[in-house]
Amino acid sequence: MKEVKIETTLQVYDALDQLPNDIQNLMAKAVEVRDNAYAPYSKFNVGAAIMLDNNEVIVGSNQENASYPSGLCAERTAIYYAGAKYPKSKILKMALTASSQNQITNKPIPPCGACRQAIAEYEIKQNQPIEIYFMGAKGKVVKSNSLANLLPLLFDNSVPVSYTHLTLPTTPYV
Ligand code: THU
Repeated sequence: MKEVKIETTLQVYDALDQLPNDIQNLMAKAVEVRDNAYAPYSKFNVGAAIMLDNNEVIVGSNQENASYPSGLCAERTAIYYAGAKYPKSKILKMALTASSQNQITNKPIPPCGACRQAIAEYEIKQNQPIEIYFMGAKGKVVKSNSLANLLPLLFDNSVPVSYTHLTLPTTPYV
C-alpha cells in the first residue's frame, strides 16, 4: 500500500484590478454576459468568457429549464459554442463570474465538477493548458494555470499520452 498526496496550486488576487488588462477585459465580458443568464429557478447568474488563439472571445451564461437537469452551466454553454464555431482554435483563457440575484456574491465561485470535466476534454484535445480565472460579483479573483489544477484524477480515456502537458500527476497511483 502506498499513500498518495495530491497538491494543487492556485493564485489568489485581492481584486480584479491586480490582474493584467487582457484578463480585466475578458472578465468584463463575462460580467456583461452574466446578465443574460436565464436563471428563474436558482436565481444564480453565471457568466463565462473564453479567449481563443484567433483573438475571438466567446461568451456564455447559464440557461435553466423547468425540467432542471436540462439546463446548462455558463462554462459549458460557452465552451461548446467555441468548439462548434472554431473547432481548430485553441482555448487560451476562461474568465468566470457568478452572482446571486438575492445577495452579493463576494467570494470566488469555481466551476462545477461537470464543467471541469468538460473543460478538461478541450485541454487534453488541444494539448495546451487553459488558464482559468474565477470570481464572484466582487472581491477576490482566483487563477488556475490549468484545468488540471482544478480536477486532479480527471477522467481521460486517452491515458497516458495526453497527460504530457498537465501540471499535476493525474494518475499518481500507477
Ligand atoms: N452554474 C453554472 O453556470 N456554472 C457552474 O459551474 C455551477 C452552476 C449554474 C447552473 C444553474 O443554472 C445555477 O448556476 C445554479 O446552480
